[in-house]
Amino acid sequence: MIQNMVEMDQVWSEHKALLSEVEAEIRKALRSEVELVNKVAQYIIDSGGKRIRPLLLIISAHLCDGIDKSFINMGGSIVEFIHTATLLHDDVIDNAEIRRGISPARVLWGNQASILVGDYLYTLALSLTVKIDKVEINTLLADTCLRMAEGEMLQLNHNNDLNLSEKTYLQIIEYKTASLISTSCLFGAIIADAPDAEKEALKAYGKNIGMAFQVADDTLDYMADNDRLGKSLGEDLKEGKITLPLIHLLRNCKDSERIWIEKLIGSEHFFPADLKKMIDLMTAYGSTRYALKYAQDFSDTAKKDLASFTDSRHRQSLFAIADYVVQRDH
Ligand code: IPE
Ligand code: IPE
Ligand code: MG
Ligand code: MG
Repeated sequence: MIQNMVEMDQVWSEHKALLSEVEAEIRKALRSEVELVNKVAQYIIDSGGKRIRPLLLIISAHLCDGIDKSFINMGGSIVEFIHTATLLHDDVIDNAEIRRGISPARVLWGNQASILVGDYLYTLALSLTVKIDKVEINTLLADTCLRMAEGEMLQLNHNNDLNLSEKTYLQIIEYKTASLISTSCLFGAIIADAPDAEKEALKAYGKNIGMAFQVADDTLDYMADNDRLGKSLGEDLKEGKITLPLIHLLRNCKDSERIWIEKLIGSEHFFPADLKKMIDLMTAYGSTRYALKYAQDFSDTAKKDLASFTDSRHRQSLFAIADYVVQRDH
């Protein structure tokens, strides 16, 4: 795999000013009369996060020659609010002890507050969306939120399911993750008043990098540097979340190893040595390699989705993002 981080660094730095305008918009919108809502929301917003979804919206709008800054800023804040809401909910569902290198909101204020502020942020996003006053955008955002909730439910439904098929896994990640990433790109194209063919191309690109993004996330859960990731390793296994590297391992391992995995997944006791053994098995059977190749294929397809755009700095940036989602380490 060719390392492309320098290019990605350039993408971030070239869009720094535009991203800080989105950041200002986020802060402007967070004005609840209930102080605790602001406090919890501010906490997670301030805790970092890559802001990859607003970045995609900005670049997509520019690729389609969109220049309406106020809509771009509002769009960027909307997709980041939706993403933040999903993280607040996700950490409750997953019992997370760490997010972005620090305690998640649910550890500091409790699960109830985390869920309620998540609800607040979803609704805030939809109320900002309505202000843009475009039926196409209202429909897109509402449908995306529905899809994401369906994805989480489908995932819950298959918790601890060692027979989860690759097909259903792909459906889960498309719904829970790729849908919002795809929408971020399409949103940019709609703001720019792009023709249908360009909208379709960006929607497809976003879906494919979104798939690559989640497959990479699921692989990082087994092989990342803990500090760099800012989340604990082996969380998916602990929570009974069956992801692509594990699906591959289960398909290829010996019966005795499968029995060991079955016991481990249902168990309350999960030791670092178990995680190490699992990672060793995944390395031996090529499961992490398989998953990363899968992510790379999605990323390659994403680049092909942009073939109809003429070459430009913005298209190059989207190519760099397609590489980055696979190569990232956090
Ligand atoms: C985390 O998303 C949730 C997934 C979809 C895997 P990000 O990796 O974009 O999270 P932040 O915002 O950068 O922390
Ligand atoms: C990410 O799922 C999907 C959403 C947050 C919607 P994960 O559970 O894999 O995300 P992390 O690993 O906690 O960031
Ligand atoms: Mg999680
Ligand atoms: Mg994860």
